[in-house]
Amino acid sequence: MPGTSKNLGGVALVGSGSATPNQRLTNDQLSLRVDTNDAWIRSRTGIGARRVIGSDETLVELSQRAGSLAIQRAGWDPTSVDLVLLATSTPDDLFGSAPKVQALLGAKQAVAFDLTAACSGFLFALVTASQFLRTGAMRRALVIGADQLSRWVDWDDRRSCVLFGDGAGAIALESTSLVQNGLLDFQLKTDGSRGDCLNLPQLNATSPLVAGATYQQGGFSPIQMNGQEVYKFAVREVPAILETLLKANQVDPESLDWLLLHQANQRILDAVADRFEVSYQKVLSNLADYGNTSAATIPLMLDEAVQDGRVQPGHLIASSGFGAGLSWGAALFRWQGAT
Ligand code: UT7
Repeated sequence: MPGTSKNLGGVALVGSGSATPNQRLTNDQLSLRVDTNDAWIRSRTGIGARRVIGSDETLVELSQRAGSLAIQRAGWDPTSVDLVLLATSTPDDLFGSAPKVQALLGAKQAVAFDLTAACSGFLFALVTASQFLRTGAMRRALVIGADQLSRWVDWDDRRSCVLFGDGAGAIALESTSLVQNGLLDFQLKTDGSRGDCLNLPQLNATSPLVAGATYQQGGFSPIQMNGQEVYKFAVREVPAILETLLKANQVDPESLDWLLLHQANQRILDAVADRFEVSYQKVLSNLADYGNTSAATIPLMLDEAVQDGRVQPGHLIASSGFGAGLSWGAALFRWQGAT
């Protein structure tokens, strides 16, 4: 899907928030469960620890905490929000968790729904929400990326369980004039024919229903991943889509303030930086603390960098998400913050 058409209104990114579970699980702790070690995980992925939702937390609560902070920092009243869009593949409720988040936020006027695009979910949701704002159909949108893959990893599979963690991040988006537009362009891609290397499939459990009829009991198998295939996909497609986006907008990689990539593996971040000859200092990374939080990685990272002052109003950011589907995308935006 190509990017923005130029004859509509603009979108500004005006607030951010994030929330992570209380339980922190280090590599050393994980090595008590599976045959792994801190040195392997750090050198192959850059991950040092991850957060895991325990029995006293839910995805809805994390999403609400992240969303409330974004609304507050944007300077909004919750009742002025028109849309709550929750990007998640791991809702508390398969019918959707966004409505419960909307209620807890007090965003009484907002329509709320979930969007599923795995680790690309936040970027896909950001672009989706921005369409409502650019056409003038809506004025304020809250885009949340949140996942709890800890529920769906096989904690005895060392090839995948070391990678993932739980978390939530949120961005407040506002319609603006085209002159003030902050979401400069985007590209979104899907290739379902290559989707088999990363799945969270339904259980295959057939039961008799009545004579001559069967049904499938609902439920899911743990994550199945061919790590090397996903790695190759990421280091090929992420630079390619970013290059297309930057060229289309005549943006020199040197003029970017930040590269904000889906946090999956530090080696992937470094490979993309090398490809564009962007200094590692300009590549935002919090993998060491949180691992791969799926749809949450980009807003969680952005919020951290906004709060600690690295990302400043006016900064130009190239972002890319990728993951199951296979799906991937990129967006070029300027952070505005509350004015
Ligand atoms: O959002 C997208 C989600 N998915 C991803 O981002 C995954 C992308 N892929 C990757 O990040 C990497 O492929 C991994 C980190 C998953 C694996 O790194 P790798 O360098 O591709 O390792 P490998 O699979 O080639 O395994 C190398 C060795 C193997 O041992 P042998 O066969 O060489 O003896 C594995 O059995 O490392 C072993 N190994 C481990 N050892 C210690 C695999 N996992 C572990 C582990 N601890 N956790």
